[in-house]
Amino acid sequence: SAIFGAARRNSSGLDLSDAATLVALRSAMEKTWATRHRAAPMPAGKSPAGVARQVRDPADSERIVGEVIEATPADVGDAVARAVAAQPAWNARPVAERAACLERAADALEADRDAFMALAVREAGKSVADALAELREAVDFCRYYAQQARTQFVPLGLPGPTGERNELQLAGRGVFACISPWNFPLAIFIGQVAAALVSGNAVIAKPAPQTPLIAARATGLLLAAGVPADVLQFLPGGPDVGRTLVADARIAGVAFTGSTATARRIARSLLDDDARPIATLIAETGGLNAMFVDSTALPEQVVADVIVSAFQSAGQRCSALRLLCLQDDIAERVLDMLKGAMAELKIGDPAQFDSDLGPVIDAEARARLLAHIDAHRDAVVAQCTLSAGGERGYFVPPTLIRLKAIEDLQREVFGPILHVATFRSGELEAAVARVNASGYGLTMGLHSRSEETMQRVRALARVGNLYVNRSMIGAVVGSQPFGGEGLSGTGPKAGGPHYLLRFATERTLSVDT
Ligand code: NAD
Ligand code: ALA
Repeated sequence: SAIFGAARRNSSGLDLSDAATLVALRSAMEKTWATRHRAAPMPAGKSPAGVARQVRDPADSERIVGEVIEATPADVGDAVARAVAAQPAWNARPVAERAACLERAADALEADRDAFMALAVREAGKSVADALAELREAVDFCRYYAQQARTQFVPLGLPGPTGERNELQLAGRGVFACISPWNFPLAIFIGQVAAALVSGNAVIAKPAPQTPLIAARATGLLLAAGVPADVLQFLPGGPDVGRTLVADARIAGVAFTGSTATARRIARSLLDDDARPIATLIAETGGLNAMFVDSTALPEQVVADVIVSAFQSAGQRCSALRLLCLQDDIAERVLDMLKGAMAELKIGDPAQFDSDLGPVIDAEARARLLAHIDAHRDAVVAQCTLSAGGERGYFVPPTLIRLKAIEDLQREVFGPILHVATFRSGELEAAVARVNASGYGLTMGLHSRSEETMQRVRALARVGNLYVNRSMIGAVVGSQPFGGEGLSGTGPKAGGPHYLLRFATERTLSVDT
């Protein structure tokens, strides 16, 4: 059908187990590492430029990756005025032209792959494999939304009485604020922006303060691909810039990815002003993601999938596994194997290429995670040894904490800390209900070889993405539309066929012929 679009292929990867590929990749990445990168508002802000702030490598806080000149709240008003003025002409352009801009940007991202990966490694502490996955997701978002827009943003003829022509047409809503987190500084940043642009909106993009450099490079590609300067503006800065942006009554919609607490603040702000048109909020937020393992599961596969789900990306994925729920009769066996697998993990500078996981994003995140481990010191059942870090790298040892009850975990712990609880035979459904009761609904995992159990859990689970007999991370654009419900977000799902619809308004034309 039109909504699912024609054949399209996701980007292809790289064989990271091939020595020659790694040598070439390292040499290309080293060129990027030798450069000092810069980010600044685009177009340049009017207010006197602030002092440039250094962006440092989370694996070594003495290593400077680049500099950012941040926007200030005083820059927001002008940026919005320019965007409001530019949006109608952009919206009036044929959708094929807007889609072509995204496709050119996707080609440019692929051509600049090694530099983007190098920046993701140094600016965000990503492993090489994570950096590649992120680059590919960014490319796929651009091509997927371009394809979706081409099929969805065309007039849809509707039946009516003879002598009348009825048409439904999607159009941009106006100016969108796109506010993104640091944990996918390229893919989520460009995914939000691409979706808003191709739907006919002007965009003001505010990246996370921790990762402005990679976002600035991505913005540069979109502008070079033909998006007009006032249609896409870049305002690097912190929460104060974000707050001012969403409080501006001329903003018609906000695409936000980040914490549930921030989403709530934004929702309140959008409703603050009685005179303001009702704005759209697309919020993708945190999760309290559980995996259930019953006694029919294969322990070897469970352990491999738990390691990836809980610790890849140093646990800094909204989708990551936080709570492992084991049926009690297999719990000790799985835990023993899990401890063994954790002992094999290598934590270190991702630029060394052989690290399984790198640092967490900053000193604050590290302190928060270590405090959580400290508060549960008596319940720690396994912890990896750190060979890297000291005070200069923000490394946190992957840690396993045993809980007395599922309810003991009530808040998202955003890092490489896994909690484990048990349930008794016959109590799986009750355990799922207890996880549902947290109110979060992002990802859930199940390991069971019983089809009947799978169907029962599927019927009960209140989550956006349920993964069975596999890991719980790495949703693929166009195949596994991603996003949660309840405290985890508003929908629609990123990388899915309904995403663009929320960025658009619907207009009906009825002509008496
Ligand atoms: P955060 O909420 O602290 O910040 C996200 C963005 O919002 C940043 O750009 C920040 O500057 C901005 N911001 C902060 N306060 C604001 C305000 N009052 N008004 C407007 N903007 C404001 O989140 P974070 O720490 O950067 O990211 C980690 C969180 O993101 C985790 O909770 C994670 O689960 C979530 N996340 C969710 C998804 C998803 O798809 N569901 C994906 C990635 C990350
Ligand atoms: N989309 C990312 C994942 O699935 C967050 O892991």
